[in-house]
Amino acid sequence: MTIAAVLTAAGSGTRLGHTLPKALVPVSGEPLVVHAARALLAARTADGAAVSQLVVTAPETHLDVVAALLDDVVDAAAAEVRLDVVGGGRTRQESVAAGLAELTDDVDVVLVHDAARPLVPADLVARVADAVRAGHVAVVPGLPVVDTVKRVGQGDERGRPVVETVPRADLVAVQTPQGFDRDVLERAHAVGTGRGASEATAASDDAGLVEATGVAVWVVPGDERAAKVTTARDLLVAQALTTGALA
Ligand code: CTP
Ligand code: MG
Repeated sequence: MTIAAVLTAAGSGTRLGHTLPKALVPVSGEPLVVHAARALLAARTADGAAVSQLVVTAPETHLDVVAALLDDVVDAAAAEVRLDVVGGGRTRQESVAAGLAELTDDVDVVLVHDAARPLVPADLVARVADAVRAGHVAVVPGLPVVDTVKRVGQGDERGRPVVETVPRADLVAVQTPQGFDRDVLERAHAVGTGRGASEATAASDDAGLVEATGVAVWVVPGDERAAKVTTARDLLVAQALTTGALA
């Protein structure tokens, strides 16, 4: 099994509202993308395999900065890692597609991870890779949904009508890394290319593209520490977790 990771870091971070692109915003003195890359490279599967190629999608304006930061992470890694830094697309889906185009021929398992989930534990990365190795061609980490979730219809300025309450036991909130057999993921991206151009139609995760091709996607237990940094509040939580204030 030869494992590559595509680390998406090309977003601007509009909802975070920082002057830097989100992946370059520091938590405990280090950018989100550095934390995320380190976790990916620290992971070891049950049979000792590590990520051997790391492809990072970065904003076109920050390619050199990201490459310099990640050169250091790769140099410090225990195993040999090939690093590629590529410009991202207009949407996350297009960025992942750009990352997939960089994979070397020998790669057969691909993990796709968001730099926006900087504190992902290495053992979650390994759990996803192990599940792919065990025969599931598409694997996502998921956590139980804690809120009651309702489907709503078209409303007016006073609000929106509830259509139904979705049984919570049937729901999981999905995280990254998501793990795939390389051929399955490449085919799903090829089929979904047309959707990828605009935020309104693009898939918000890679498993969604795979589902659309009729291939079964499996869920393994996620981890709260892999939470996504979207808003300033999330950044504060990540900061507190890394300094031990909330640990
Ligand atoms: N991403 C990417 N290319 C894009 C858009 C997003 O590589 N064109 C990456 C982001 O860098 C992030 C991940 O996809 O690691 C998840 O995206 P999100 O959390 O939405 O980040 P941003 O798009 O940067 O944030 P926002 O939507 O608030 O602008
Ligand atoms: Mg976004």
